Amino acid sequence: MRTPHLVDDIAEVLVSEDQLRHKVAELGARLSADYASRPLTLVSVLKGSLPFMADLMRAITIPLTLDLMEVSSYGGAVTQTSGLVRILKDLSASIEGKDVVIVEDIIDTGLTLNYLMRYLRGKNPQSLKICALLDKPARRLVDIDIDYRGFSIPDRFVIGYGLDYAEFYRNLPFIGVLRPEVYGAS
Ligand code: IMP
Repeated sequence: MRTPHLVDDIAEVLVSEDQLRHKVAELGARLSADYASRPLTLVSVLKGSLPFMADLMRAITIPLTLDLMEVSSYGGAVTQTSGLVRILKDLSASIEGKDVVIVEDIIDTGLTLNYLMRYLRGKNPQSLKICALLDKPARRLVDIDIDYRGFSIPDRFVIGYGLDYAEFYRNLPFIGVLRPEVYGAS
């Protein structure tokens, strides 16, 4: 891959910093209201959800605990998921009997989350819900009920605000689309 140029490689901004800020505040307020009477456990999926999780937790005004998982897909091209999921980092604490919300960056085919939901359900939480910043419904291969959804986006490969192409661009503060020549040069 050629050396990435952060902003110069962006063809289009799909979701601006301002839109992200407003949506995160809205999701935080909803979660605060829905879990007002019970402690909330957020389980974030690294690495893509890192900025979303950091902002969302600060928009939540009720007590909560955090845990982190890291998963990766087996094989597949850089811009496609294979459906096979490998757990690189597991939960640090038991979620048995807890009210858990999975915090995800993007749901594309749904295969990663489908696997994670089955895995986490097996650990007997009291409840298990999904909060996803981005939803790409056009590419869905399995049905996923998204309880808290940020933005529904078209079928385009996006980067920024945690999302990567070949591990770069995660530090952009907005969600954008890369210029086609960036993929061509990889
Ligand atoms: P799924 O299993 O197809 O739903 O894919 C989920 C994972 O694929 C996400 O957590 C991302 O890591 C990655 N992914 C899917 N679409 C994109 C994208 O447009 N940009 C960056 N990563 C993506």
